[in-house]
Amino acid sequence: MRRSIVAGNWKMHGSQEQALRFCEALSAAPLAAEVELVVFPPVAYLGLFAANVSQEGVQFGAQDLHPSPEGAHTGDISGEMIADLGGRWVLVGHSERRREHREDDALVAAKVRAALAVGLKPIVCVGETLAQRRADAANAVVADQLRTVLDAVGPEGLVRGAVAYEPVWAIGTGASAAPEQAEAMHGVIRQTLAVRDAALAEEQLRVLYGGSVTADNAADLFHQPNVDGGLVGGASLEAESFLAIAAAAG
Ligand code: 13P
Repeated sequence: MRRSIVAGNWKMHGSQEQALRFCEALSAAPLAAEVELVVFPPVAYLGLFAANVSQEGVQFGAQDLHPSPEGAHTGDISGEMIADLGGRWVLVGHSERRREHREDDALVAAKVRAALAVGLKPIVCVGETLAQRRADAANAVVADQLRTVLDAVGPEGLVRGAVAYEPVWAIGTGASAAPEQAEAMHGVIRQTLAVRDAALAEEQLRVLYGGSVTADNAADLFHQPNVDGGLVGGASLEAESFLAIAAAAG
């Protein structure tokens, strides 16, 4: 049985006040034991989040890390720092970082390796653009993104974290992938691992869907056999909608 994960990526949103309000609401809420909840606040609020979230079942992490353990890298943070704050997870290769910071597959793989080296669980984000989908290249693009990471850390490394399928055209657009589209690509992702380790692919790899997930569409997406939860952007900023999405994974 693969345990579902519902993760919230706040991106560059929020404030101390919003983070505190979120922590208070989450701390008071009954959580379903069968779903892992993970929150990725902006790193500016990571310490505040760690100090105020008082639910055992809520984990947190950062939205990015530098591939080096330390050094002269102005503005960056290391995996060790995330772990030092109590973070257990880290997002790697989000399409916004691939696009805005020109992160390529090799850098993403190096970051995944760096995360694993300090015991963080990386959520590796993959996904095609609309142009790639229209050109019938979506499966190949996503499988290639994943293979570079697999070459770097192997199947055992990959399953210590998770994979998030986030079609670029569905992020922040309100146009979620249809459940069948998500299911088909999650199958491609699982199969990409299965050619190297079928048992790990079937039993351990958790593949999350991300892209305009809301409390209204979450259940249909999460009930697909190859969908093991979600990576939620906009709808994760308020505890109420985040918890409603988490409930859909229960
Ligand atoms: P939205 O849920 O806002 O579309 O964002 C998805 C995402 O990019 C999560 O990482």
